[in-house]
Amino acid sequence: MVTVIDHPLVQHKLTLLRRKETTTGEFRRLCREIALLLGYEVLRDLPLEPITIETPLERMQAVQVSGKKLCFISVLRAGEGILDGILDLVPSARIGHVGLYRDPATHEPVKYYFKVPEGMAERLCIVVDPMLATGHSAAAAVTMLKEAGARRLKFVCLLAAPEGLAWFEAAHPDVPVFAAAVDRELDDHAYIHPGLGDAGDRLFGTK
Ligand code: URA
Repeated sequence: MVTVIDHPLVQHKLTLLRRKETTTGEFRRLCREIALLLGYEVLRDLPLEPITIETPLERMQAVQVSGKKLCFISVLRAGEGILDGILDLVPSARIGHVGLYRDPATHEPVKYYFKVPEGMAERLCIVVDPMLATGHSAAAAVTMLKEAGARRLKFVCLLAAPEGLAWFEAAHPDVPVFAAAVDRELDDHAYIHPGLGDAGDRLFGTK
C-alpha cells in the first residue's frame, strides 16, 4: 500500500528538487526538508510513554516519544539524504545502514554492508531511500531486515515508479510505503521519469 503525502509544502519542495537547475546545496537542503515533512506523517502513530515532569508551576504527568523503540535504516548511499531530515524529528532514534550493489551479471542486489541496532524485533523500523525505482534493492533491504528480526517496518521514499511499487508490494505486502509522488514510469536504465535524475549524484555532487 502506498500513501502519497500530498501536503502543498511537500509538493512545492518536490518541484524545486526535480528542477535540473537546482544546485547540490539546494538539493541537499530540500531533501532534508521534504524528509522532515514526510517523517511527520509517517510517524503519526508513534507510541508515547508517560513521564513525570515539573513545569515552573507544578508536577504533571506528561508524555514522550520512546526514541529507543524506533530505528531508522538508511539504504546507502542516497538514503543518507533523507536520514538527516527524519532524524531532526527524533534525534534519539537508533540508526542502521544497509549497503547494496547491483551484480553486473545477474542484476540482483548484493549486500556489501549491513549494520543495525540490537533488538530489531521490538523496534519500528523506518527504511529510507529516496528512489523506489525497480524496487529490487528496497525489497532486498527489507528482506535482510526481517532476517535480522524486524517485524514492523515502513518504507519512505521521495519518488516511486509504478513498476517498483508493484515489485515491492508483491515481496512485502505488510510494509507500507510513503512517497512524495508516484511518477509515470521507469526507462531502460531504471531511471524514474519524469523523476529528478540520480538522487545520489545530485546529493553528493558526484557525476
Ligand atoms: N535511482 C535514482 O537515483 N534515480 C532514478 O531515477 C532511479 C533510481
